[in-house]
Amino acid sequence: MFLFNSLRKAYFPETDFPERHVDKEKCSKCGRCYETCPTHGYRWRKGDFPEPVGYGEFKAACLNCGNCIAVCPTDAITINGSYSVKSGRYQNYLLKKVSPPDPLGLKGKKQYKDFKENLSKVEQAIYSRRSNRLFKDKQVPKHLIERILEAGRFAPSAGNCQPYKFIVITDQQIIREYEMRSMKILKQYKDLYLDTEGNRPWWKRILVMAMITFSSWIMVNKVDPRPITAMHKAYKNNEKIHFNAPTVIMVLKDKRGISNPDLDAGICAQNMVLAAHSLGLGTCYISLSITPLNYPIMRSFRKKLGISYPYEAVTSIAIGYPKGKIDGIVKRDTPPVAWI
Ligand SMILES: Cc1cc2nc3c(=O)[nH]c(=O)nc-3n(C[C@H](O)[C@H](O)[C@H](O)COP(=O)(O)O)c2cc1C
Ligand code: SF4
Ligand code: SF4
Repeated sequence: MFLFNSLRKAYFPETDFPERHVDKEKCSKCGRCYETCPTHGYRWRKGDFPEPVGYGEFKAACLNCGNCIAVCPTDAITINGSYSVKSGRYQNYLLKKVSPPDPLGLKGKKQYKDFKENLSKVEQAIYSRRSNRLFKDKQVPKHLIERILEAGRFAPSAGNCQPYKFIVITDQQIIREYEMRSMKILKQYKDLYLDTEGNRPWWKRILVMAMITFSSWIMVNKVDPRPITAMHKAYKNNEKIHFNAPTVIMVLKDKRGISNPDLDAGICAQNMVLAAHSLGLGTCYISLSITPLNYPIMRSFRKKLGISYPYEAVTSIAIGYPKGKIDGIVKRDTPPVAWI
């Protein structure tokens, strides 16, 4: 029984999800919540109300990112509670204290809009930026892309090593090819899990449980059930992993960088994201397609993009003009903080 339970937890870990509610009196059925959710958090068809859904054995598929609340034009969505994984290799240690930004320590005595003016421009950018998954069909001018890259160039890095390379993709056909090729690989992962509609014969369940258990022990972060729902979403969304963004900037690390080039590349990327936000652009980090890109089977596509040793893709940033209201103040969980 113990063995069965630990297998089951590795396959579908015990997870607390927040409660989501869509107020049908307020909802205009626009579908923005469905489109902008990073997971397959809602079921929606044109002309219908969105319905919060789960995925496979998960009773919900929600990371509590708050994007659906930020993009809803009619304030129809409420989310209560927190998201946390209680067991297994994916366990997290969030304190389950979800609250809006409180940089001035006001403990909810004032709303963000009432103390916003007391914050610096950088703080305002940090708190209002949201991942954007709804883009206008309009290309970003080259001089703005260059400004974003310049913000990346001035990021700090260990030993001032600057272990980066950027690939700017504005060719829609290349982005599409990248998505289709990545999805072929991602679909293999996705199919290991039970999908929302899925029923599997018992022998397949056991086989899959054994495979996932084994691989999740040796490859934590790679076989996590959370991105699986994002894969499902991308698959359902015509494989549009980059959400029709007109520009994708891929951030690569020079593997020979001092200390931790992944960290350097991440800091550099965030400089670019905040610069883009300050220029009125919307961004979304896209790593879903990075894992497949680094697979041996993608060698020819990597060659097409000009990726070879010592460079390796770390993440990419989808960039474009946001369609409608995207940014907004949302709640976040609280990490443990030790004061010494
Ligand atoms: C390194 C990294 C990779 C990410 N990859 C994806 C992705 O592939 N697809 C996606 O929709 N969102 C992706 N995201 C966005 C996260 O889902 C998002 O940042 C998180 O849910 C918090 O929401 P917010 O950015 O709106 O505050 C990624 C974020 C980071 C930092
Ligand atoms: S909070 Fe985020 S993950 Fe949850 S349903 Fe809304 S958009 Fe999706
Ligand atoms: S974004 Fe808001 S208004 Fe639009 S479908 Fe979702 S809940 Fe309804």
